[in-house]
Amino acid sequence: MSNNSLARSPAGPTSTGLVDRFGRSVDYIRLSVTDRCDFRCVYCMTEDMEFLPRKQILSLEELYVVAAAFVDLGVKKIRLTGGEPLVRSNVMSLIERLGELPGLEELLLTTNGAQLHKYALPLRHAGVNRVNISIDSLNSERFKRISRVGKLESVLNGIDAALDAGFDRIKLNSVIMRGYNDDEVLALTEYALSKNIDIAFIEEMPLGEASDHAREDTTCSNAWVRRVIEQKYKLRDVEEKTAGPSRYVRVEQYGHSRIGFISPVTHNFCEDCNRVRVTVEGRLLLCLGNEHSVDLRGILRSEEFTNALLKESIISAMDLKPEKHYFYDKSQPQPVRLMNMTGG
Ligand code: GTP
Ligand code: 5AD
Ligand code: SF4
Repeated sequence: MSNNSLARSPAGPTSTGLVDRFGRSVDYIRLSVTDRCDFRCVYCMTEDMEFLPRKQILSLEELYVVAAAFVDLGVKKIRLTGGEPLVRSNVMSLIERLGELPGLEELLLTTNGAQLHKYALPLRHAGVNRVNISIDSLNSERFKRISRVGKLESVLNGIDAALDAGFDRIKLNSVIMRGYNDDEVLALTEYALSKNIDIAFIEEMPLGEASDHAREDTTCSNAWVRRVIEQKYKLRDVEEKTAGPSRYVRVEQYGHSRIGFISPVTHNFCEDCNRVRVTVEGRLLLCLGNEHSVDLRGILRSEEFTNALLKESIISAMDLKPEKHYFYDKSQPQPVRLMNMTGG
């Protein structure tokens, strides 16, 4: 598909919104721009991960066309994910174009932070509103054990660069795993409080097999994480919601930071689900924990491609969105996809 053929395509249907069979409005897409990453986090990848060949992944132009179609269909928020979005070559050219999409209210990015010292300002200038930065340990050796190759220093510098760049909000993401970093809940909380930024604790999800541990042995419930924080701080539940599944609390005397709990294993939040994902292969995935999907790449690369056809396929895909995920339910099929293949 050439750029010209895309430009000539008729605009096609615009809609008042994407709604699934359960009456949930989808106004948020998580668009994966690469399956590659400069880290190899133990909960996300295997150590000797093989990545997709170039021709299997969407070009930057194709990613833009998909994003624009969703925005035409009423999507207000796009979160760029990966892998690590900032390792995709020339990704800034895509982000700059997305930042100019009329109708898009929020452009967001989830990153491992390692390259933010370089990218924070350009991202902000391109119109990225908020960044979420993964950090699972404040101890360099630990950090390396969890990310297998990452340098803590680079992420800490990245967080400072993001603070200097003036994003609307910055959120840290920590996956707490027994035997890896379960003794760092308070240290990570204090670090976020000291920087006046949010932190979300995420339960490790059984997305594919982890190669260094059995997930059943490492998964920590957020109820446990919360009890650890409450040993030191008084927490107050708040109603505030972002576009994500986090339930937030605030810490008495620390006005700005919020602590979020994303609990896909112990609390099913699917009832409020407002998002779908697009993998870097162009698979429109209707749920993180299920396989229901539509091949948008096939449509983008077919002779018959038009924007109208793409949008019709997206609209009808909404009927495939499953009601919920069933992590650890032995009567249901479990996801075999690792997170980097899905988009974080
Ligand atoms: P905001 O609230 O908009 O900042 O988004 P978010 O917290 O959803 O975004 P982020 O990329 O930081 O997501 C953090 C993690 O939450 C992801 O990496 C997933 O582990 C988990 N998560 C996000 N969305 C979903 C979802 O739809 N289902 C499940 N099971 N987990 C999710
Ligand atoms: N369980 C929970 N979160 C995961 N991530 C990757 N793999 C998993 C998993 N198995 C999340 C981390 C990271 C984001 C990019 O992806 O929270 O912050
Ligand atoms: Fe990379 Fe994020 Fe996966 Fe870690 S969790 S390997 S930083 S994509």
